[in-house]
Parts: sequence; C-alpha cells; structure tokens
Amino acid sequence: MRLRKIKNIEEKIKNYSDIIVFDAVSKKGKWNSQFKNENPIYLEIGMGKGKFLLEHARLNPNINYIGCELSDSVIYKAAEKAEKAKQEENITNLLMINNDACMLNDIFSSGEVSKVYLNFSDPWPKSRHAKRRLTADTFLNVYKNLLGVDGIIEMKTDNRKLFEFSLMKFNEFGWIFEELSLDLHSDKEDIITTEYEDRFVNLGQQIYYVKVRIK
Ligand SMILES: C[S@@+](CC[C@H](N)C(=O)[O-])C[C@H]1O[C@@H](n2cnc3c(N)ncnc32)[C@H](O)[C@@H]1O
Repeated sequence: MRLRKIKNIEEKIKNYSDIIVFDAVSKKGKWNSQFKNENPIYLEIGMGKGKFLLEHARLNPNINYIGCELSDSVIYKAAEKAEKAKQEENITNLLMINNDACMLNDIFSSGEVSKVYLNFSDPWPKSRHAKRRLTADTFLNVYKNLLGVDGIIEMKTDNRKLFEFSLMKFNEFGWIFEELSLDLHSDKEDIITTEYEDRFVNLGQQIYYVKVRIK
C-alpha cells in the first residue's frame, strides 16, 4: 500500500498501544488471554488500512480479529479507525500487530489461529521475487503451522497471475478447495470489501476468490 511516511510515526504510533500489540512475540500461545475470551482467532495478513477487518469485527463479536501489517504508516491509519470504533461502538475484538508475516511462527503457537485472510497481497510479478509472494512455500508453511489441520485460508485478489500461482501452491500443499470464484462480485452478495477491492471494483475489474482448508 503506497502511503507517504507519516512524520514522527515511531512516536505517534505508540498512542495506539491498546490496539497495536507491540510485544507480539511475548503473546505466543496467549492470544485468547489477551482478548479475555476463548473465541476463535481470525488473522488478516497485509491488512492495509483495516476497513475489512473492522467491519468483520463489528458484525461478529464472537470472533477475535488480528490484523498484521508491516508498514507503520499504514497500520497507524488502521489503528486510528479501530480506536475510534472502540471508543464509540465498544469494539473490543480487534487487535493489530506491526510485524512481517515471515515472523508469524514466533507470534502464534500451532493451531492458535482458525482462519487467515490474504486480501490483495502484493503480486511481486517478477519471477526472481516469487519468494516474496505471501503464498510462496515459506509463507504457506508458516500458515500451516499457525492454523493446524482444518484451518481455513481465504484469499481475494485482482491479479490473475498471483491467483494462478497461489492455486498451484495450495494444490501442491494438498489443501482442500472449498470455494472458488473467478468473479466474486457477480457470484456473491453482501461482500465485506477492502480498500483495494473498492478501488478495483469501481474500475470494473474482476475479483478472484478462493477458500482452502488445511489437510
Ligand atoms: C496491496 S496492499 C492491500 C491492503 C489491504 N489488504 C487491502 O486489500 O486494501 C498490501 C499490504 O500488505 C502489506 N504487506 C506486504 N508484505 C507484508 C508482509 N510480509 N507482512 C505484513 N504485511 C505485508 C503492505 O504493507 C500493504 O499494506
């Protein structure tokens, strides 16, 4: 997500320490205590400005949501919105972590997460950058561990090549394809969208969607 770096972001971001968990590694295996309940945990990786996750948190108070976002300027924007929702609507089932997805095995214990969302992940189109795609082998092994058997991954993208690459990888891992759409917005109604998705849909672009279950 392209966003100009916010001035003094390292200081400003600390204002949201009740939403952004800065010592995420120390919470490994203890996320349910952090939420003070035993509800399932759904994780969005590369959350961006957080619209998708905030809307889910509003609609599903019995699910705990965690947004993972690498960029501090981007997560700051997401945390601003989440803080407002916490104050005004008492939304308490949404937390955020400012980490790289490659660290997730240090942050969650095996089976601690029930679902992973990958929404409009950076496509990294050049072959030499394939390992950086969030559906490359290293990342899928991380998700496999934190989700455990029967864990779910839902992915949405506008990028056909990233979609095909990801389908091939899910298939190589032997995961079960539960749902697939080559035009999500024609096939389904009442879709909770992301910031990127709104942009692409307004441009008339197709959105690809897949849901897989870990075997
Ligand atoms: C194209 S944006 C999509 C944002 C949002 N999901 C949406 O659909 O509006 C991709 C986001 O993923 C984040 N990101 C990229 N690589 C990441 C990684 N390895 N770990 C965590 N976040 C990452 C970027 O900082 C960026 O905000």
